[in-house]
Amino acid sequence: MIKALLISSLVLVLVLLTVQFKDKGKGKVEPLRAEKQQFLIGAAANYKRLASDKEYRNILSKEFNVMTVENDLKFINVHPAKDRYNFYNADKLIEFAKEHNIKVRGHTLVWHGGLPQWLKEGNYTKTEMEQILKQHIQKVVGHYRGEIYAWDVVNEAFNNDGSLRDTIWLEAIGPDYIKKSFRWAHAADPNAVLFYNDYGIGAFNKKSDAVYKMLRELTNEGVPVHGVGFQMHTSIKQNIAFSDIENNMRRIHAIGLQVQITEFDVDTSGVDATLESKLSRQAEVYSRSLKTCINSNGTCTAFVIWGISDKYSWLGKEARPLMYDSNYIPKPAYYALKDILSQ
Ligand code: XIL
Repeated sequence: MIKALLISSLVLVLVLLTVQFKDKGKGKVEPLRAEKQQFLIGAAANYKRLASDKEYRNILSKEFNVMTVENDLKFINVHPAKDRYNFYNADKLIEFAKEHNIKVRGHTLVWHGGLPQWLKEGNYTKTEMEQILKQHIQKVVGHYRGEIYAWDVVNEAFNNDGSLRDTIWLEAIGPDYIKKSFRWAHAADPNAVLFYNDYGIGAFNKKSDAVYKMLRELTNEGVPVHGVGFQMHTSIKQNIAFSDIENNMRRIHAIGLQVQITEFDVDTSGVDATLESKLSRQAEVYSRSLKTCINSNGTCTAFVIWGISDKYSWLGKEARPLMYDSNYIPKPAYYALKDILSQ
């Protein structure tokens, strides 16, 4: 009797151990967001997809702890007529984020793109344009005060040669539109983390130097700017200077600012190779980029991918730039990030 009891409890212990071991070995069970608790891993999202696609909702809620509002807060969508704002889509996205304990990045307040006709063709005076921008920022940031934790306040204000891009904002307000926008945003939500966001500014070049110089001036003047967003729309064709990116993060840290990777994706189109080798090269770019962010000693505080599934990428179907394929099967890039996050 005692012998039988001993044997059966031994069997039970063995079974329990195997089950546990199996779970550990799989490594797939834990979502990305659970791997490194303090680190923000995110995706850009649109309400249209959230409302219509269950798989999209499922992955967004499980895998990520930060989301960027991809299009629903752009001027043209949130402020479609001079006296009308439309917060519906962004409200819904943010409600979802709250339910699932996902932080929200607002994108974007001041940009040359995504502008409505009424603004582009309104023939407003310079004073009117400044009023319009000020009110827009106050209204939108104020509406989400305490709910949107970080804002891309100014987006893509520089040309590649380091000069300021010719936009309706520069035209109407002059170069000071940048610092004014940060001040207006800060007044509307003093707790929001405010970013300057751009592409092609991760490594060293004329543009990233100009951005750095401007931010150094702004911080010296006490303008409320807190971080720099490196968009990082990349491609497997590119040769990315990761050590430059590391050093650039360092100089940004030295002026008291943080960095976030804000719009990461890796285009795989235009290369003559098998899909398998393209996806493995893509995974490598994902992995090295996340590693650069994580190894920055706290300077780089978030890694946000510009979408979830290749089904909806802004680059089209051929590019396959994201972590999930069109059927929501995780690609090598997903496992590459998981590896880095679990280290
Ligand atoms: C893109 C969106 O992904 C598209 O869906 C939209 O049609 C156009 O804008 N830099 C930015 C983003 O800052 O806002 C852009 O997003 C991609 C490039």
